[in-house]
Amino acid sequence: MGWSEWAREIEVEPSIYAADFTRLGEQLGGLTEGGARVFHFDVGDGHFIPEVTIGPVVLASISPFVHAWGGRLDCHLMVERPERHFEAVARAGGDSVTFHVEACEDPLDDIAQARSRGLGVGIAFNPGTAVEDAAAAATGADLVLCMSIHPGYSGQPFMPEAPARIARLRELLPPEVRVQVDGGINAETVGVARDAGADLLVAGSAIFWREDPAQAYRELAARVEEPVRG
Ligand code: DX5
Ligand code: ZN
Repeated sequence: MGWSEWAREIEVEPSIYAADFTRLGEQLGGLTEGGARVFHFDVGDGHFIPEVTIGPVVLASISPFVHAWGGRLDCHLMVERPERHFEAVARAGGDSVTFHVEACEDPLDDIAQARSRGLGVGIAFNPGTAVEDAAAAATGADLVLCMSIHPGYSGQPFMPEAPARIARLRELLPPEVRVQVDGGINAETVGVARDAGADLLVAGSAIFWREDPAQAYRELAARVEEPVRG
């Protein structure tokens, strides 16, 4: 099972990092009822990015529920030596790992290692990295993640150079490889990112920092797909 089986043509992915962790189960359940299927889960190690975020313990507590509801967990590893974490992520119920080209020595080998654990695979790249370098490292990946912020935390603005970088990425990748965007996606920028060629649209603050996250999800999804398929 991989992205081609579970992901719809366009996915707006709630980024759990921005959730209210005192109400996490309730918020994920509400978003699932609202139509969300793929949840983005940010792992940061305090080295690759300064922030320590969430990890396998939280993943293990939510994955049985998300899976029972028909959802998937897309894990964004903002960590050095990502391959050291594949096993723990897979065991905790992660469905896919996306790791940074800047963080690995041999991306092709890391892609193979993730696959051997039954995980979907993505390659991410930072705003300072050449799009060409990321695309070249992504042979065999399901998706390439174009960061539209410097990774670290939710609530930063979408970088103005991101649409051109997304468009260049779309041009370089074979059609079956998905283009994901992460950072600053909201009601204004989601259409811009979609029009540039992204089909997996991660949104943290624009969903979880709103009064009604499920409603915020539906509003974002309505801007890029008609109608939301349940
Ligand atoms: C930050 C994370 C993002 C973050 C996005 O580095 O990778 O997934 O939660 O948050 P927003 O959508 O608020 O930029
Ligand atoms: Zn992320």
